[in-house]
Amino acid sequence: MSRSLDALFRPRSIAVIGASRHPGKIGYTILKNIIDYGYRGRVYPVNPKATEILGLKAYPSVLDIPGPVDMAVVAVPAPIVQKVAEEAGKKGVKVLVVITSGFAETGNVEAEKRLVETARRYGMRILGPNIFGVAYTPIRLNATFGPGNLREGNIAFITQSGALGIALMGWTVMEELGLSAVVSMGNMADIDVVEVSEYLADDPHTRVITIYLEGLKPGTGRRFIEAMRRVTAKKPVIVIKAGRSRRGAAAAASHTGSLAGSDNVYSAAFKQTGILRAYTVEEMFDWARAFASQPLPRGENTIIITNGGGVGVLATDAAEEHGVKLLTPSKELRDKLSQTMPWFGSPRNPVDLTGQAVEENYEKALTVAFESGEVDNIILLYCRTAILDPVSLAETIVEVAGRYEDSGKPLLVSMIGGEDVYRAMNLLNRHSIPAYPSPERAVAALSAMLRYRSYREKIAGRAATS
Ligand code: COA
Repeated sequence: MSRSLDALFRPRSIAVIGASRHPGKIGYTILKNIIDYGYRGRVYPVNPKATEILGLKAYPSVLDIPGPVDMAVVAVPAPIVQKVAEEAGKKGVKVLVVITSGFAETGNVEAEKRLVETARRYGMRILGPNIFGVAYTPIRLNATFGPGNLREGNIAFITQSGALGIALMGWTVMEELGLSAVVSMGNMADIDVVEVSEYLADDPHTRVITIYLEGLKPGTGRRFIEAMRRVTAKKPVIVIKAGRSRRGAAAAASHTGSLAGSDNVYSAAFKQTGILRAYTVEEMFDWARAFASQPLPRGENTIIITNGGGVGVLATDAAEEHGVKLLTPSKELRDKLSQTMPWFGSPRNPVDLTGQAVEENYEKALTVAFESGEVDNIILLYCRTAILDPVSLAETIVEVAGRYEDSGKPLLVSMIGGEDVYRAMNLLNRHSIPAYPSPERAVAALSAMLRYRSYREKIAGRAATS
């Protein structure tokens, strides 16, 4: 594993330069998040006006800190950043996380250049400037001014948008989406999306990388393609590329100072590199949820199990639209499935357990699907009925899926109904079974997995013949 960004993701000590004494200020919030989220390394507030902040001894300058400092989070106003960066360099800080705005994104290109030069002189790396920070949950690091709490998991989220990134941090907690890392990229004066992706490609705690991208720095396209090929050969990467429209591209340019470029160029680059392109944030996390918890499909044959004919038809339409191949069950499999349903159900695909289905029907049908050599992937649908409590069904699904954990078959669930259905889906998601509020979203997520699977097969084939 590349060690280049270890100081960013696994710092042994952190200084917060500009740690404020005042609740509500950014420098205060970052220090509080670091402490409250349970970071176990040494933490040093730096503030010339304070002797103690949040119970920790404060230092007037980073140079006054007695021990070594791996990471320094900088939250002082722009005119002071150069001075504190110089001090951090002298101290031997390995990475500067520069929260401060007011650099290239506002036309202050010279100040940003000087900052990078200073860092280079001392062999120091820079994340930012103009960012909300970095989080890495395996070591309980939350050096951001976003929400204090983050759900641990294996989705890495890299974002060029600050406010959206912060908002999504909170949203992922509510949605039971577990994150390994959150990295705010900002102006990418030094460390960029490519380097972070390459680092996370080797991170054992990350299974899927999601990126909100506005644009790359000019002249970095080729490097992006070469590096991302290496990353997607190891794990899936889902990108949402903003600034697709002409006006959107102009907005992106003034946001982080990056070139949005022609959308077609990005599309072609994503295709060449096996990057999965999502068009909405919802889509990006829907797919990530599936990749994060389910095995990669070993084949294409998909079965749909439902208690509602209508949602079964909707899922079938979505499967056709998304190129998801629905299995035609053999006579033998149909006979087995018939045993799991009332006589008026259907053992064809979609397998219709009917509105009369209870836990036992789902339990049996799911077991048949897991046991059958014909089935590669399972989509399980449920419409709220008065005779089947969704939470109880979710518990049954968790139990059966647990028995077939090593089957190598992805299982994706969709449940439709009221409040208790959401509770049931949360329960499933907490148990690493991806659950979606519409059949189309479950199908789209499986389709993303199948596309990634065929990309991986294609590159493996190429490697074998070359
Ligand atoms: N070393 C360390 N701390 C210093 C210092 C120095 N040389 N000089 C001043 N400080 C202290 C200040 O005294 C203050 O602490 P206090 O509140 O206890 O007095 C603290 O550093 C912060 O300085 P302050 O002048 O109050 O700045 P601020 O908190 O109003 O703003 C930023 C600082 C970085 C938050 C602001 O300049 C900024 O860039 N905001 C935008 C951040 C952003 O949106 N980033 C992108 C997100 S996506």
